[in-house]
Amino acid sequence: MNKTPLIAPSFLSADFLRLGEQIEMMNKSEADWFHMDIMDGVFVPNISFGFPILKQIKAVARKPLDVHLMITQPDRYLERFAASGADILTVHYEACTHLHRTVTTIRQLGLKAGVSINPHIAVELLQDILPFVDLVLVMSVNPGFGGQKFIDQSLTKIRRLAHMREVMGLDFLIEVDGGVGLHNARTLTEAGVDVLVAGSAIFGTADPAATVAEMKRKARGE
Ligand code: DX5
Ligand code: ZN
Repeated sequence: MNKTPLIAPSFLSADFLRLGEQIEMMNKSEADWFHMDIMDGVFVPNISFGFPILKQIKAVARKPLDVHLMITQPDRYLERFAASGADILTVHYEACTHLHRTVTTIRQLGLKAGVSINPHIAVELLQDILPFVDLVLVMSVNPGFGGQKFIDQSLTKIRRLAHMREVMGLDFLIEVDGGVGLHNARTLTEAGVDVLVAGSAIFGTADPAATVAEMKRKARGE
């Protein structure tokens, strides 16, 4: 089952002084989703941006906003993220005591619900939540920063998760985030990934839109 994966550039690595331009460039590119990293300085050792920026991005974005919440107590903010333009809202397994309630609320708000796991969490722990989510985001680095090295063990996790999906007869998407680039796009797709998130590997190049196109080609095995 190897279709072309979706590419979700992570704007954490964008040039914030030229954000409007960079969004316009990605609007015109082959990028499928815009990945937005929200960090609270507590769940992860970094702070990114919040509602005002997200709303402004939504006003000009022509692709779905894939919002990755690296925050504690996400339940407090689900409605505001929906109102700020999130299309897909992903919470961390480690941050949710009542994960089923959280993902159910996200769906009730009319959004796609995702759950993310840090590198030390086994995909098997997700077994009982999988029927209730639209997406699983496998973190392939410790979240908090762009430009880190892909943790190789993530590949076997992705394969195990893809196997669980098949055995359970489910159709959630598998997304991978952290250290993704042209070098591993194909391997990840073959392992079962549907959505590739890439920040520095896209925005760190001279022509980010061309890199998105190249990543798609590579992921298809061309
Ligand atoms: C990390 C974020 C990622 C980050 C990826 O905590 O969740 O989305 O932007 O950056 P790269 O692709 O540079 O590893
Ligand atoms: Zn992310």
